[in-house]
Amino acid sequence: MRLNRLTYSTLFLPCVIGRTLSTREINSSSETVEVKWLEGTPALALGTTFGLPWPKGKHLGNQTTFLASTDSGEDVSLQSWVTSYWADGSVKWTGHALGSSESIPDGYEIRAVKGAPQRLKRQSMNVVNADDEIIVDTGKLKASFPKSGNVLVSSLSTSSGKVVGQNGKLVLQSQSGAADTGDSSAKAGIDYYQLESQINMTTIDAGASVRTLITIRGDHRIVSSKPTATHDPWVPFTVRFYLYANSDMIRIVHTLIFDGEADKDFITGIGLRFDVPLEGEELYDRHVRIAGVDGGFLSEAIQGTTGLRRDPGKAVRAAQFEGKKTPDITTWDTRVSGRLQWIPTWNDYTLTQLSPDGFTLKKRTKAGQSWVKIPGGTRAGGLAYLGGATTGGLAIGHRDFWKQYPTGIDISNAATDLGQITIWLYSPAGEPMDLRPFHDGLGQDTYAKQLDALEITYEDYEEGYNTPHGISKTSEIFIRPFDSTPSSDELAALTKVVNEPPVLVPDAAYIKQTEAMGTYWDVPNNTTTTQAAQTIETHLNFLNKFYQGQIEQRRWYGFWDYGDFMHTYDTDRHVWRYDVGGYAWDNSELSPNLFFWNYFLRTGRADVYRFAEAHARHTSEVDVYHLGPYNGFGTRHGVQHWADSAKQIRVSTPLYRQVFYYVTGGDERIGELLHDLMDADKTFLTVDPRRKVRQDNGTYVPDPTAIDLDLGIDFSGLAAVWLIEWERRGPRWQEARSKLNATMHGIASLKNGFATGVALYNIYNGEIKPPATDPENRGHVEVSHLSASFGLPEIVAQITQYMGDDLPAAFDQAWLDYCYYYGAGAAEQRARYGSSFGNLSLKQGHSRLTAYAAKRSGNVTLATRAWNEFLNTDGFAPTAPWASVTLSGSRVLAPVDEAAWISTNDVALYGLAAIENLAQVGSAL
Ligand SMILES: *[C@@H]1O[C@H](CO)[C@@H](O)[C@H](O)[C@H]1NC(C)=O
Ligand SMILES: *[C@@H]1O[C@H](CO)[C@@H](O)[C@H](O)[C@H]1NC(C)=O
Ligand SMILES: *[C@@H]1O[C@H](CO)[C@@H](O)[C@H](O)[C@H]1NC(C)=O
Ligand SMILES: *[C@@H]1O[C@H](CO)[C@@H](O)[C@H](O)[C@H]1NC(C)=O
Ligand SMILES: *[C@@H]1O[C@H](CO)[C@@H](O)[C@H](O)[C@H]1NC(C)=O
Ligand SMILES: *[C@@H]1O[C@H](CO)[C@@H](O)[C@H](O)[C@H]1NC(C)=O
Ligand SMILES: *[C@@H]1O[C@H](CO)[C@@H](O)[C@H](O)[C@H]1NC(C)=O
Repeated sequence: MRLNRLTYSTLFLPCVIGRTLSTREINSSSETVEVKWLEGTPALALGTTFGLPWPKGKHLGNQTTFLASTDSGEDVSLQSWVTSYWADGSVKWTGHALGSSESIPDGYEIRAVKGAPQRLKRQSMNVVNADDEIIVDTGKLKASFPKSGNVLVSSLSTSSGKVVGQNGKLVLQSQSGAADTGDSSAKAGIDYYQLESQINMTTIDAGASVRTLITIRGDHRIVSSKPTATHDPWVPFTVRFYLYANSDMIRIVHTLIFDGEADKDFITGIGLRFDVPLEGEELYDRHVRIAGVDGGFLSEAIQGTTGLRRDPGKAVRAAQFEGKKTPDITTWDTRVSGRLQWIPTWNDYTLTQLSPDGFTLKKRTKAGQSWVKIPGGTRAGGLAYLGGATTGGLAIGHRDFWKQYPTGIDISNAATDLGQITIWLYSPAGEPMDLRPFHDGLGQDTYAKQLDALEITYEDYEEGYNTPHGISKTSEIFIRPFDSTPSSDELAALTKVVNEPPVLVPDAAYIKQTEAMGTYWDVPNNTTTTQAAQTIETHLNFLNKFYQGQIEQRRWYGFWDYGDFMHTYDTDRHVWRYDVGGYAWDNSELSPNLFFWNYFLRTGRADVYRFAEAHARHTSEVDVYHLGPYNGFGTRHGVQHWADSAKQIRVSTPLYRQVFYYVTGGDERIGELLHDLMDADKTFLTVDPRRKVRQDNGTYVPDPTAIDLDLGIDFSGLAAVWLIEWERRGPRWQEARSKLNATMHGIASLKNGFATGVALYNIYNGEIKPPATDPENRGHVEVSHLSASFGLPEIVAQITQYMGDDLPAAFDQAWLDYCYYYGAGAAEQRARYGSSFGNLSLKQGHSRLTAYAAKRSGNVTLATRAWNEFLNTDGFAPTAPWASVTLSGSRVLAPVDEAAWISTNDVALYGLAAIENLAQVGSAL
């Protein structure tokens, strides 16, 4: 199908940074970039957003128009915006939206051409922004979004005007306590609450032509309770609705923050509910469709005409099963049509997925009557449809449904004039969500005891710090209205789209060539020049595949867990150490995020993208606080994602979401998280990351003008916040640039630069002063294996590239020195800094620092040193097994692949160092 010819895009005006390029300096030839579907051409394209990088100095935002055509040369409408700028003001990354099309090309060509973008009016999107609601008409559906009240979507209709969804709102239920299993008497003192969404604000993005984004924020309010009890409004939400031109599907990104107290607030259900009008539809022409396993469907009618003692006629049975209107009832066998009143109608259906391994299904005729079991299955597709052959209906799908267990789907009141579909992001059929600490503290009431306990379970415990207050969760839901009941094949195709939303990506070699996402990785084809490099490629592939497999075999699924993996293996029990203190959930320890994303960038592989995507979603939400005292900090690895008392910016660093943000064309939830961290430095006033190890712990009071800042794990996080805010030209980019500049000059002014380890940081202006132990700046040395392990090399490389000639030379030198001396040995360290760095570990990971220094200096001896550190120090040796073994029998719960030699710390460091060394000093291997 042909879309509107050449819709010109509107772009944000670029900001003037330092010296802005003049028009003449921009080389004006137009540039064409191909994008292709990540997983091959999809069966449905109901609207897509994607990102594209551009080389420095090539395109000015307000003087460039982006045009799209299919790979067969047909022009299509494109909406474009800028997601980041180079320092000179030229465009670095753009986001683009394409509407829906019936014929789906294998790819598109995006052309950047010189010429001011013109503001054209919306083509197929018609948007009315009234005082009390926003109405969006995509050409294929129409939806109304109120600006107040408890309903997020008041009406959803098809292009022919059939209203198939109404009253769409969030529902939540909770209780004030949790009875121990089997102890019903304990339920006496528990209050039960039913809550609904309450809108605080509904907004619409500017400049929409192909895509309209409606964002609704609010919280949940009580509608009833038992016994009558009160509860403050809680669980703030942000729900984003993405609508595309010519598309009849809405993508919903649902975010909530847990702001309750773990021992008083037990959530028992989180859902999205729509009413589906069914009035006027015969009960035998109303249909329920529920996705089962691998494209399977339950296809039923509210009043069945199949399997009866008397046959209404083949045409009637066939039509009902296929979801078509049955022949006029006067044509039916009267032995059936005369007895419809005796055929039960099925009012309610419930699908419950309480584990990743199985779901149950049941239905009933009405409340008060027994449920009838329907055979269930293993992993439900997470989509349901309710509607009629003539009234039309509504399909709702929840992405990664079974992976996010406990989940559920309810269809209710289908035999009345107004049915409902509820998608349960957290199923009320399971146990209450229990976010309490997993142990009682074991008497660890002093720092000394806590540090001693760290020696045995590796958990860094402290009472009060093990709170879920402020963690969040983001889910994706898709809704699609239909004029009539679709075929189950069509719904199966939709279920696939819901679980694997089609993604468009440019070629790896193109991304590399633009240098817009770091210069520390290269495509395998450029680096795999020797047998040794080929071996490293096989190892990288092995590690990726092994973790993908472990997610499945170890069942790393669940509402709060899906997307993460574990930290360390227990070789005796043949399990990951899911129950041992600091060894359980990984929480981004040592930057596995960067390894997996860089591996995606260089290979363009779909399996890697999907793995990294789930990881980015999880780590950005659950492992980080979004309100409360730890807002902006993340939690160190542990048995519960929020339990460890080490709250640090090293875990929340936005660097771990940067690639995902740009390749998605600026995912708005991720974008908001990146920006929100601009205030993370204030959290140092509440949380002192070094409180347990400082000498002056009895007297230390954080001073906002002199916060103890780790120049590795803290600075790398803050620097990433600032660079990303700056390149995005976010609302506070000037402050970000100024603080970045100040800290860089400050670090450079320390006698020992990065080797100083810790310095004093002024949260108002970013000024850095020498550490309290060395106020005269005589030269303090404090180097830790962790300093550079949370993205420091990557963010410094990005800043260096970004600032170019404006980079403070002394800062550059301080970093190059650190890179050189970490692995240089005690004698050289003493000669340079006056003392050695001590006994350091993580040398394999640090080989990428050596490689960086070697590349910058062109020093071949140093390049050889980098490879020696990579191959012959710690971490994974070339002689490691590089394979897993399959275990089965009574030693293990279920058959698993085991690689007992693997730890996730080593995976992260090996992966990062391999990729960066190949890119930076590959020829020396
Ligand atoms: C633009 O073209 C000029 C002359 O052809 C060249 O010297 C310059 O490097 C080009 N600039 C960029 C950013 O490509
Ligand atoms: C484009 O942006 C630059 C920098 O902000 C500004 O100086 C110039 O006037 C803009 N040009 C147009 C045509 O808007
Ligand atoms: C509603 O939004 C406003 C503006 O962002 C904010 O200041 C206020 O705190 C919000 N209120 C609630 C109850 O969320
Ligand atoms: C403070 O540090 C000292 C020395 O490291 C230690 O003996 C003391 O127990 C610490 N204070 C607390 C409250 O744990
Ligand atoms: C590497 O080269 C092969 C063969 O020329 C090609 O098929 C593949 O797409 C290339 N991969 C990348 C990442 O460029
Ligand atoms: C960067 O910081 C240095 C040292 O504080 C200062 O002299 C300089 O003006 C700053 N530059 C910018 C662009 O803010
Ligand atoms: C240095 O650290 C490694 C690893 O932690 C350890 O095996 C080794 O014994 C240490 N060496 C010295 C001299 O402390």
